[in-house]
Amino acid sequence: MTIPYQHTPVMAREVVDYLAPAKGKVLVDCTLGGGGHAEKVKSQKSKVKIIGFDQDAEAITAAKQRLAKYKDIEYVNDNFSTLKEHLKEKVDGFLFDLGVSSYQLDEPGRGFSIREDGPLDMRMDKRQKLTAFDIVNTWPAAELTEIFKHYGEERFAKRVAEKIRWTRDEGRVTIATTAQLKELIEKAIPTWKKRESVTRVFQALRIAVNRELDVLQSALNDAVALLKPGGRIVVLAYHSLEDRIVKRTFNAAKKAGLLTVLTKKPLTAAATEIALNPRAASAKLRAGEKR
Ligand SMILES: C[S@@+](CC[C@H](N)C(=O)[O-])C[C@H]1O[C@@H](n2cnc3c(N)ncnc32)[C@H](O)[C@@H]1O
Repeated sequence: MTIPYQHTPVMAREVVDYLAPAKGKVLVDCTLGGGGHAEKVKSQKSKVKIIGFDQDAEAITAAKQRLAKYKDIEYVNDNFSTLKEHLKEKVDGFLFDLGVSSYQLDEPGRGFSIREDGPLDMRMDKRQKLTAFDIVNTWPAAELTEIFKHYGEERFAKRVAEKIRWTRDEGRVTIATTAQLKELIEKAIPTWKKRESVTRVFQALRIAVNRELDVLQSALNDAVALLKPGGRIVVLAYHSLEDRIVKRTFNAAKKAGLLTVLTKKPLTAAATEIALNPRAASAKLRAGEKR
């Protein structure tokens, strides 16, 4: 099956520059997605070996299709929290391009889409049990408030949580689709900035479903431990919660004498790239080199 995987790799030139691929090196792409960054590396240095992780089976299929003409690529359909289990030897580089791909966001059947209706799912890894449906329809209002506040930084977190609770518990309505949830959020928000709140609540749910922030810090630490001296780690983060974890983890590794931080401040995308790919607007790139 061919997957119509639409995703433009963000800051691809900067990512490749920092990864500094060279013949015979082994790079681990922890978030292979559609293989956009991996293709950029391979097209420049075909003799680099790539080990590509993605917890989404559809991403792995799409990447295999895109990278079919290249040799020396290993595909691992697993969470990057399992780096230590899969990597038996130290490597020369790690790339983390965090969050979801445009394909996942836009494909209504995956349940992340704000624009088109779909089932409330939001799992990157469909082998996982917990879905957005479970969270929205069963979690207590206090827990919903917490995730909307912390993962979405949503000002009206409590109002949205209460609206959901009332609808499902007193109204006895199952909230089964993204359109239903979007409508509820819009009704709960007392200002005209409803779209921003919808985006923030959807982000919060996605982070909770996929435990995105829980696995990040330990995976970054594992990656630093698995780098050869002189090896590079490059991370692209798309919201402040993620970027804060990256910054802190890099600084801790620096203090421990393990890492030289190559980006004093995070790099952002050029205006010309943002004009072509609005997703790049929120990207923050940080890079480090193993001591
Ligand atoms: C922004 S996309 C990567 C796009 C890719 N760099 C490209 O150019 O095509 C992020 C990908 O990482 C995957 N992902 C996110 N968190 C993950 C995790 N903890 N473990 C494995 N894969 C993850 C998602 O399923 C998604 O396919």
